[in-house]
Formats: sequence, structure tokens, C-alpha cells
Amino acid sequence: MTHGVRTPVCERLGIRHPIFGFSHSVDVCVAIAQAGGFPVMGLARELPQEIPHILAEVQQRMGDMPYGIDLMLPSKVPEAASIDELKGALPAGHVEFVDGLRRRFEVQPPVKPSFFTTQVRSEALFNEQIEAVLASNCRGVATAIGLRADLIERAKARGKLTFSLVGSVRHAQKAIDMGVEVLVAQGYDAGGHTGPVGTLSLLPQVIAVAGDKPVLAAGGIATGEQVLGTIAMGAQGAWLGTLWMAARENHTPPALLKRLVESNSEDTVITRAHSGKPCRVVRSDWIDAWQQPGAPEPLNMPLQQVLTGDVFASMHEHDDARTIYEAAGQSVFAIRGETTVAEQMATLVQGMESAWSRLAKLAA
Ligand SMILES: Cc1cc2nc3c(=O)[nH]c(=O)nc-3n(C[C@H](O)[C@H](O)[C@H](O)COP(=O)(O)O)c2cc1C
Repeated sequence: MTHGVRTPVCERLGIRHPIFGFSHSVDVCVAIAQAGGFPVMGLARELPQEIPHILAEVQQRMGDMPYGIDLMLPSKVPEAASIDELKGALPAGHVEFVDGLRRRFEVQPPVKPSFFTTQVRSEALFNEQIEAVLASNCRGVATAIGLRADLIERAKARGKLTFSLVGSVRHAQKAIDMGVEVLVAQGYDAGGHTGPVGTLSLLPQVIAVAGDKPVLAAGGIATGEQVLGTIAMGAQGAWLGTLWMAARENHTPPALLKRLVESNSEDTVITRAHSGKPCRVVRSDWIDAWQQPGAPEPLNMPLQQVLTGDVFASMHEHDDARTIYEAAGQSVFAIRGETTVAEQMATLVQGMESAWSRLAKLAA
């Protein structure tokens, strides 16, 4: 093997490497596509009025390179909601606790407009996101946390390949029943919202129910050796998120990059303090404060972000070394300094090749 491996889903999408890269950064997505992977651009935390401009930029910069778009579509959110109305209805004890943390960590008010200070996850917001994604020329549509039958049907009718991130066999079965074409088995090790089953245990179980549908492995993967390992297990590729935060193209705030570089797998924890749903993040004083005795249970989605969204926006805007955190997986072990997407992709492909040679020697 000289240039990595290609699986049937690579042929289907026209990509060189079985590497799927999730990112919220247009620059990262463009670089992943240029390096032969399949970028999936997350739009779950973008301002609705900016989405058409982001999609226009993505479309223009991607040219005819294939790419996907990802939306997070949890159920049990309000039909429509205004952040100010919901702020007024937050439990007093929670408001007091967060005010205390704001004083303790000297949180400066965020100045720039952001999703986290102005938006609430609601059906109305999701419908707006869905229409924008369907109107774009993306080749793939991925959804996480929830599924929408109409989105899957309409995306397929437009020739878009549908992906679903699943954290259990039950979720996988639900996605299959709704007609999703590619399953992303995302394990406990993953950065972001995640279930309780580790990637290595989840993957064979999802493959077992997937029939002839391609399955990708996600969660804790950051080396080419791991990618080849999951392909040996029957996956058609790996889906990575955390790793790209080390790429220059991600414009990661310096204090966050430093934290990621200094963190090991055990410095990531699953918490409901970010969004109200279990989410793996890299620890900071802010995250630790929610684990201390006397801290209230985080509120359910979407209220936890109504309560704390300004603080999350502020720590990123002001690059606050003490509080800054981000979704990050156990794969953080592979972040050891700033690099570029091209270097990361080359290292991944090289890792796949060396794992292949090791196996070939053993088999000989
Ligand atoms: C900063 C960050 C934000 C994420 N946001 C989303 C999201 O909006 N939608 C989604 O489907 N997955 C999201 N994920 C999860 C990724 O899609 C992917 O499953 C995960 O990163 C894989 O595990 P890894 O982080 O160990 O590579 C996010 C991950 C990270 C690190």
C-alpha cells in the first residue's frame, strides 16, 4: 500500500482517504477537502442570519470537492422561543449560582454577537437550518442527537447522502428504519454529545445491525493506526472532530490550544454543564465548578445554554485561560502543538500505511 486505503464509501463520495473531518470552521473544512478527506461542516452553533453567507462561502471555496453539513436536532425543545423570555423563567437558585461564578471568575460580558448569547435551540430554528442546508450543494447531510424523517427523505430526493451519528444500537436501528444511508458509530470517547458505550465496543454492534450500509467509527480516534484498526473491524472510515482544533486553520483561541496541548485523555470529562445533555469536554475551572459540592444539577437542553451561553461566548471571545473549555474527546492525547490540516492528513495516511505494513509482515 502506498497511498492509504479506499473503501466503497470513498468511491461513492469521490474522496481519496477514508477520513471524515467534523469541524465548525470553514477553513478547516476546505483544507480537509483539499487533502482528500470528507469535511463535514457543523452549523449547529452558527447565527441563523449568517448561515446563508457561510454556505455561499463554503460552496464557492469547495468548487466541485464533495463536502457534508451537520445539524444537531434534539427533540423535546420548544416550538419557538426567545432567549429573553426564557431567561426570565430560569430557576432563581441557578441564576444565583451562575452570578456567583461570574463574579468569582471575573467574567467579562461578551461583546460580539453569537449563537450562544442570542439563540435558543427550538423547532423554528431547526426548520430554518434545515431549509438552508437542503438548498445548498452539499453532498452529505449529517444529523446528531435527533433524527427528522422529512429531512432524510428530502435530502435523499436531492441526491445527498444521509449520515446519522449514533451512540447505541437502539439509535442505529432507529436511523436505519428512517432510511439513513451511513451510520456514524460515535462512542463514549468522543468529544461533544455522547453516550455511555466506548467506540471499540459500539462499532461491531452497529456494524452487526447495519447490513450493507456503510458504518464509520467516531470517538477517540486521532491516528492513522486507529483508522486502519477500525477499517479492519469493518468500518468504512473514521470520523474525527477533536484533532482539527490543533490546526492553524481552526483559529483556536491561544489559551484553549494551550489547554488542549497540555491535556491528556483523562482531562476530558462528560458533563451536562455545557448544554444540558451529556457532552465530553476538556476540563477547566468553569467545568470543575459544576462538579463541586453545592453546585446545582445543570438544567435540561436548551435552558442550560440560556443560563450560561454568555459565559461560554465570553471565555472564547476574551480567551480566558482559567475558564476556557471546549468539546473535546479522549483523542486529545494526539494534540501536541499547533499544526496544519495538510500535516495532520499526511500523518494520518502515513499511520495507516505503517499499520498496514506491520500487519503484512505478521501475515507473511
Ligand atoms: C468542538 C467540537 C464540536 C462538536 N460539535 C458537534 C456538532 O455540532 N454536531 C455533531 O454532530 N457533532 C459534533 N461534535 C462531535 C464530532 O462530530 C465527532 O463525533 C467527535 O468529535 C468524534 O470524536 P473525537 O472528538 O474524539 O474525534 C463536536 C466535536 C467537537 C470536538
